[in-house]
Amino acid sequence: MNGGRAPRILCIAGSPRRRGNSERLLEACVEGVREAGGEPDVLVASEAGIQPCRGCNTCSRTGECVIADGMADVSRRIDAADAIIVASPVYFATVPAVLKVLYDRLQPYWARVHRLGYPRPVRRPGALLVVRGGGDPFGFRAAVDTTKSVFAVLGVDYAAELRVEGPDAAGDILGYPTELVRATEIGTVIGEAARSRGSSE
Ligand SMILES: Cc1cc2nc3c(=O)[nH]c(=O)nc-3n(C[C@H](O)[C@H](O)[C@H](O)COP(=O)(O)O)c2cc1C
Repeated sequence: MNGGRAPRILCIAGSPRRRGNSERLLEACVEGVREAGGEPDVLVASEAGIQPCRGCNTCSRTGECVIADGMADVSRRIDAADAIIVASPVYFATVPAVLKVLYDRLQPYWARVHRLGYPRPVRRPGALLVVRGGGDPFGFRAAVDTTKSVFAVLGVDYAAELRVEGPDAAGDILGYPTELVRATEIGTVIGEAARSRGSSE
């Protein structure tokens, strides 16, 4: 599918806090993507200029969203990706609003398949890096399940995951060297999976 070019790995930074814990994990992951010969495309959700889904369901009739904003660029980058990696903190048990807004705007991808009979998307690998401060009983589950739901709609296989509990202040993640190394390994794994996907198609 990628015709001999470097596989493009869309790396979505899901926190509203720039260079916080999840984004630093993503940076470590991007190193791994590069080591595997992948071409990272880093997308910062909070800077993508995306309005919330209005629930108008026009996409169920047309396959397209009525809102003209930054989502057009995000969709192009999703469509061009050979793999997708999301890095997110946990906010009130799930992903932060800036990432959830992006997720909700993926409804046209669901509508095309489930309302309009388009073929299902070609499979590609993906991963989630998720950080939480901890101290509450709700864990990672909602953030993980929400992302799995999005990956299912995009045809992304949930191939790897890293959960880190404890980092809270920006930069706390630097005290978790093992997890940073694991993030780099995940980048390598996903980069290689995207490459072999390209050569097998
Ligand atoms: C609005 C808000 C809600 C949060 N909710 C939770 C939560 O439900 N559970 C949790 O463990 N940590 C929660 N946290 C802590 C963050 O997960 C933690 O600070 C994390 O390291 C932030 O990652 P970031 O630097 O990538 O933004 C919350 C933080 C904020 C600002």
